[in-house]
Amino acid sequence: MKLVIVGSGYVGLVTGACFAEFGYKTICVDTDEKRISNLNLGKCPFYEPGMDDLLLKHLNNTKLLSFSSSLKESMIDADIVFITVGTPSRRLEDDADLSYVWKVAEQISLNIKKYCLVVTKSTVPVGTTKHVKKIIEKKVIKENFDVVSNPEFLREGSAINDFIRPDRVVIGTENKKSENMMRELYRPLYLRETPLVSTSIETSEIIKYASNSFLATKVAFINEIADLCEAVGANVQDVSKAMGIDQRIGSKFLNAGPGYGGSCFPKDVKAFSSTAKKYNINLSIVNAVHQSNQERINNIATKIINNTNSNATLGLLGLSFKPNTDDIRESTSIKLALLLKNNGYTIKCYDPEAMENAKKEFSSFAYCETAIDACNKTDAIIIATEWNEFRALNFETIGKFVNDKKIFDLRNIYNGNELEKIGYKYYGTGK
Ligand code: UGA
Repeated sequence: MKLVIVGSGYVGLVTGACFAEFGYKTICVDTDEKRISNLNLGKCPFYEPGMDDLLLKHLNNTKLLSFSSSLKESMIDADIVFITVGTPSRRLEDDADLSYVWKVAEQISLNIKKYCLVVTKSTVPVGTTKHVKKIIEKKVIKENFDVVSNPEFLREGSAINDFIRPDRVVIGTENKKSENMMRELYRPLYLRETPLVSTSIETSEIIKYASNSFLATKVAFINEIADLCEAVGANVQDVSKAMGIDQRIGSKFLNAGPGYGGSCFPKDVKAFSSTAKKYNINLSIVNAVHQSNQERINNIATKIINNTNSNATLGLLGLSFKPNTDDIRESTSIKLALLLKNNGYTIKCYDPEAMENAKKEFSSFAYCETAIDACNKTDAIIIATEWNEFRALNFETIGKFVNDKKIFDLRNIYNGNELEKIGYKYYGTGK
């Protein structure tokens, strides 16, 4: 089977590299020629553990993976074409901007010469894949293509593992022929007995949004419980642990923190609710989750402001929205830093991977070479992202260089009692 992936961003490149790992000849396409020429040199445009090795392996050794800016040439002999372009929030609106999807669908329609599947892998609102079909139908006879919805469930930072060892694969199709082709495509996962869930196209599209919104709900829920724990002197980590042991609840996504961020949850939660509204359905829980998450970072900033002197210098550890990524989109660390900066604080910061991205957009923070440098001569330290390298800092030594020994551990990665023993005032989250 020959695969074409249209859109060489995060999802497209992970998908392309992993399908090459499964043994398929795969071409990733993008209109950004600079990006394509860098990819042809094996340069990945983002940090993702394992990606560089996988790209080089399939670009140079197996030669199963290639990159092109010509959709026309790439689509000769294509059996399956994936749409993996971005679906950002529309400016000043909650719903997804589908203009890239429509454009790509039109271009695909001009290049179908023999039967192929057109698969939406981008996160798209219910109804989108059928609309892609309508666009293609204008140029291609129906015997020559089928559309499929096949959402991705990749987490940044562990995307390759999530692709190669998924909990499930969801395939939304209209007929047996396309379902069988998709099952054949994912045959390499049979050995692992990965559940392949076959549904209608609409169901598949909803599964993606419902999954992300549900996970976001868990996070927002435990964050509100954390506030209550703080108010009454309880410990949210123990609450999460005991709740999570109940198999009906599950332990994952119950870590209290500064709120969810990233390029998916904030956008998808809003878009899901906005889509439902178009069908006169009020997703009131999803709306409340969005509201709660928006307020979260303001409350965290207030807590820091109430417990530090104005004009203090703060050492901020972590800028990415979560560890193992250089992605700062909707990063709660950055939002917090901006709020504090606006309140007169000086921000010294450090992140293992996200500094370059942050520097391009935010010039008002002092960027430091190491975590220790970022803590030097500060009045309080904020642990905003739970990178591994922040988990075992020597706070005894750091304590000798700070003005005031205060730690705001937004991700609860330290034992407060131990830090208090060495003279710190420790502020955990929900404990
Ligand atoms: C999320 C989903 O987990 C993926 O399944 C999905 O494919 C992806 O969105 C997408 O739609 O493309 P991702 O945004 O990479 O993946 O990150 P997550 O690991 O889900 O974390 C999202 C946010 O929730 C982060 O800000 C994280 O810090 C926060 N979070 C997560 C918590 O605050 N507590 C938790 O217990 C878990």
